[in-house]
Amino acid sequence: MKKHIQSELQRLEEKTQRRMLKNVSSSDGTWIVMNGKKMLNLASNNYLGLASDERLIEAGYQAMRTYGAGATASRLIVGNYELYTRAEEALKKWKKAEAALIFNSGYTANLGIIAALIGRDDIVFSDWLNHASIIDGIRLSGAERYRYYHNDLDHLESLLKQASPHKRKLIVTDSIFSMDGDMARLEGLVTLKKRYNAILMVDEAHSSGIYGERGEGLVHHLHLQDQVDIQMGTFSKALGSFGAYVVGEQWLIDYFINTSRSFIFTTALPPAVLGAIEKSMEIVQKEHIRRQTLQFHIGKSATHIVPIIIGSNKQTVQMSERLQEHGIAAVAIRPPTVPEGTSRIRFSLSSSLTKEELDWALERIAKVGREIGVIT
Ligand SMILES: Cc1ncc(COP(=O)(O)O)c(C=O)c1O
Repeated sequence: MKKHIQSELQRLEEKTQRRMLKNVSSSDGTWIVMNGKKMLNLASNNYLGLASDERLIEAGYQAMRTYGAGATASRLIVGNYELYTRAEEALKKWKKAEAALIFNSGYTANLGIIAALIGRDDIVFSDWLNHASIIDGIRLSGAERYRYYHNDLDHLESLLKQASPHKRKLIVTDSIFSMDGDMARLEGLVTLKKRYNAILMVDEAHSSGIYGERGEGLVHHLHLQDQVDIQMGTFSKALGSFGAYVVGEQWLIDYFINTSRSFIFTTALPPAVLGAIEKSMEIVQKEHIRRQTLQFHIGKSATHIVPIIIGSNKQTVQMSERLQEHGIAAVAIRPPTVPEGTSRIRFSLSSSLTKEELDWALERIAKVGREIGVIT
């Protein structure tokens, strides 16, 4: 076993695909100290700067003071603190949904939702660039899987046409693609799901808090909330905390409570996290200025996720190392996170950055990019 694993690690090393953990000693939403060096943080998902917000910290602290450091059991045993009830009520109001359920993380939510919804006799249609947690949920479900080319509705329709009309069908997509930063064509997906009698699930991990009048997500922004069957999202990105949610009709949520294994067989979230989640939903709905500032930073880019696709692993790692030397936390994203040959630096914007900081970073990114030969 050891020999096999060492040779696998060696293989990753040769492909410049071996990952190493970095040590983060402080982070304030804008600046981070990583491996002892202070850098402007252009790599986090803290899009609205809420992770270090004093109000979230205080709410988390108070919840921990009242209920303890750990939940002591799964939700169906004795871990379902009233904090959950409060947060899920707030979630229903925010998303104008009939029912809501909090999961421990986005990863486990996707695993649990998808594997509960579909099984061996069903068919799932999944965008080529969907997040790994969706892909793993599909694998776990055992359903017949069709991957449609990224955002290609014609390809999706041709696959839907071939599928047996008698089988249950699920279409699943990220709303904003995590590594490319583009948006799913949600209106077209709604049309197709109706035409072929499928259900549609949208993962709002990167749009919750950012799109929609009160940050409800891209589905709301496009007024599609009554036509998307399942909206899933996370509290771990723009909402600055941890955990995930799913909203939908009551029968769906009741079903997940009874059948989602990643919901049932795990300890409930720590009270501190639930306290922070509740506070972050309150802030995100009313502090429009955060969304407006982020929108201003986005400028002509598609969204707040801005990748520079380089291609080779080696050059991507080189660029990320050079940027870090210049004081910019920018991380090399390589396969299997992205397809072979599309390694990239994934920059992410946050409302907590100032225009001056962004101009400062842009100058350095252009300089490093030219030196390495990836920007002309
Ligand atoms: C689209 C998408 N879904 C789900 C997840 C998983 O969320 P979490 O980090 O809360 O587990 C991510 C995280 O990167 C994501 O990008």
